[in-house]
Amino acid sequence: MSPNQHSFVSNDTLSVWNPLQVGAYADYLVLLSAHNPVIVVDDILAQDGELLLAQASLLNQKSIASLKNKTLARPLVDSIRIEKTITAADLLQHLLDTIRSTEYFQSMVERKQPLTSLEPVCEVLSQLPLVQQFLTVMAAQMNDLYQRTLCVSLWSLYIAQEMRLPAQDCGEIFWAAITHDLGMMHVNPQILYKTGDLSASEWRHLQSHVEISGKLLADMPGISPTILTAVLEHHERCDATGYPSAKVESELSIPGQILAVADAIVGIYFNRFKAQGRRWREVIPVLEMNRAAYLYRSCDIVTAMILRSELPLPNVVSGSGVPEFAERMLQENLHLQNWFTQLRECLTSVGYTHGDRKLHALQNVVLHIATTFKGSFLFKEDLRESLESMAGDEANAISKVVADASLMQQEMAFHLHRLSRMMQMYISSGEGKDPKINKRLQGGFTKISGYIGRSN
Ligand SMILES: [Fe+2]
Repeated sequence: MSPNQHSFVSNDTLSVWNPLQVGAYADYLVLLSAHNPVIVVDDILAQDGELLLAQASLLNQKSIASLKNKTLARPLVDSIRIEKTITAADLLQHLLDTIRSTEYFQSMVERKQPLTSLEPVCEVLSQLPLVQQFLTVMAAQMNDLYQRTLCVSLWSLYIAQEMRLPAQDCGEIFWAAITHDLGMMHVNPQILYKTGDLSASEWRHLQSHVEISGKLLADMPGISPTILTAVLEHHERCDATGYPSAKVESELSIPGQILAVADAIVGIYFNRFKAQGRRWREVIPVLEMNRAAYLYRSCDIVTAMILRSELPLPNVVSGSGVPEFAERMLQENLHLQNWFTQLRECLTSVGYTHGDRKLHALQNVVLHIATTFKGSFLFKEDLRESLESMAGDEANAISKVVADASLMQQEMAFHLHRLSRMMQMYISSGEGKDPKINKRLQGGFTKISGYIGRSN
């Protein structure tokens, strides 16, 4: 079922999530109940003691109406049972299906690299009845999110094992990955599935899924503090550009950072690569350009894992198209250098003593991009020389270095675009309190805005 086919009852778009009020999750339950009955196992009472739904009744479109706009005595999820929930055996089968349909995992299997048995880690599900309920709803009503969750969980487990972490830690990281986005089921679908740009308040609402996941898991038997911390940190970044707490590297846990990198590469693949027919191998240059954001060790391990699997490099260009490709890449290289220089000049010209946290975050991003630039070979003379010779010599093939560089350039454009948009949002929000700084930023941004348009 597509998101547009949902007849969501809740229109309270940006309200703060309250487990004692019914919202998006209840709507998913109603949709599920059409083919998998949802049974009320305890009387559902309002906070004032009013009986809203009696034990043994069924949850459906009609009965849910009595719960709307009420504050319940206890969370709905504790008072219901789904007739057929996902079992440990089902989860194992779904993971095996994901391995079969994912190029990277399949390549490992074909090369006969042993994949650790998933059976013992899946077994834990039988001790987590609420997680069973949530996964059942997610698999049926938000299948895309469920498929991504499975993929993130496999990556997280294999990265942890590659780091040679103890088996118990690997299991906890796997379960953090399985549960990390449960909060998404409570995000307003009109925002979750919105195709256009999100407003700042819509972004905040979407980002709240991390804290909702944390609240759903807190105090749940079988969920350890390690799992909970990793879930809460899955969108945090080592360079303090993450959310919800903008923690720095020294404040972050290893399990949280393994989950973060696994979630990021799956996000890159599903959100950006899959529709463009791009390959898992292309994740490497993208990660390379994002090293400041993730734990270096986990970046290195993902790169080594993908290289070892010998996934093919994409055929970026070949034959007679090579000289023109090299010429275009040279121009793009120059364009990126100029764009970056303008951004850096604009953001650093205002100094660092302003005490504005958001402006500091923007300045941090530009400094991290500068570090990435320096560490990469994108602006090195060698690359320019080989591109110039390819453009002039009628070359008919490109080297692996140039192929990776072209992907890194795309990634760099993505980052410059993102930073430019962040700057634009900061300037237009009027949050800057110093008029002199605002004027200077606005002046600098006039030049930068031209780059945003050209890169679209
Ligand atoms: Fe998330």
